Amino acid sequence: MPSFGTVRQDWKPGRLSADPSAYQDLRVAIFGGTGGLGRAITNALLGKGAQVAVVGRSLKDPPHPLRSFIPADLSSLNDSRQVARDLPVESFDAVLLTHGIFAGRSREVTPEGVEKDLATSAMSRWVIAQELLPRLGQDRPSDRQQPRLFVWGFPGGERDLDFTDVQSTRNYRWQTAHSNTVVFNEALVHHSAARFPELNVFGMNPGIIKTNIMAGVLGQSSFKLRAQQTLIGLLFQSAEAYAEKVLPLLVHPALEHRSGALFNRHAQPIEPNPWLIAGNHCDQAVEAAESLTARILD
Ligand SMILES: NC(=O)c1ccc[n+]([C@@H]2O[C@H](COP(=O)([O-])OP(=O)(O)OC[C@H]3O[C@@H](n4cnc5c(N)ncnc54)[C@H](OP(=O)(O)O)[C@@H]3O)[C@@H](O)[C@H]2O)c1
Repeated sequence: MPSFGTVRQDWKPGRLSADPSAYQDLRVAIFGGTGGLGRAITNALLGKGAQVAVVGRSLKDPPHPLRSFIPADLSSLNDSRQVARDLPVESFDAVLLTHGIFAGRSREVTPEGVEKDLATSAMSRWVIAQELLPRLGQDRPSDRQQPRLFVWGFPGGERDLDFTDVQSTRNYRWQTAHSNTVVFNEALVHHSAARFPELNVFGMNPGIIKTNIMAGVLGQSSFKLRAQQTLIGLLFQSAEAYAEKVLPLLVHPALEHRSGALFNRHAQPIEPNPWLIAGNHCDQAVEAAESLTARILD
């Protein structure tokens, strides 16, 4: 059963800051580290001396001695599983799942037959987690903190999911399709926290930040996208500022044994989605994700 961990009750106010030496020799894998928030976190980590394995479609940055790059199309569940299988996560301290898209205005389906947003932003993460978590950090020295998995999305708000139409085949709306991915990602946090007590699993809600995430809805290079990005850039924090707030969560001892916690845009703990943790909704989400991914994987 999910633990629905929360750290709010005894969390000390104020921002965490970590010992700079904690990042030296840290090994992190970032799915989606080629763009947006994942890229900002990658660059912040490299600046502090951590080693980062980046998984994504195309690397935009010049070579860095501490960064490796694994190209992959994470809209494919079979490719996602293969990349996760090939990654030597036994020696890694943390894995960050930041890859994702916003569904387009009309429904798109991947060659594997999954609604595109659901496949890229949620189901690929279920497949990756299933593949990585049993091995994560297993070969590290025993005095290290428990390995950590961070799942980005928009957890914590109240939203539901129609279990009879998780693939948005009826009355497609991009907002609903994306909302479904949010529920599945939070369920992944609760489920993994309960299933792997030897790990620490966290959900991340960054709030609104200027990135490329709306390109699928507004059109890559469109005027609407540029206008929206300009407005968001003026009103909200940058990806780089957010990355600096998040970095201590990767290493800080305050997060040890607080698996299942969710964090907001200031890296402060938030409560879980009340609908998801009510009744058996989380179990239903787990069942739906496991049966969908099992159907697709070869
Ligand atoms: N930005 C926000 O305001 C906001 C708000 C709420 C939640 N979030 C969540 O934060 C996370 C990160 O979003 P972001 O804003 O950083 O998005 P972003 O700027 O669009 O970056 C998305 C990342 O996902 C990768 N990606 C997308 N499709 C892929 C595919 N088929 N195969 C491999 N990689 C793929 C991209 O790789 P390439 O660059 O190589 O294509 C990029 O690295 C997501 O979970 C998002 O839902 C963001």
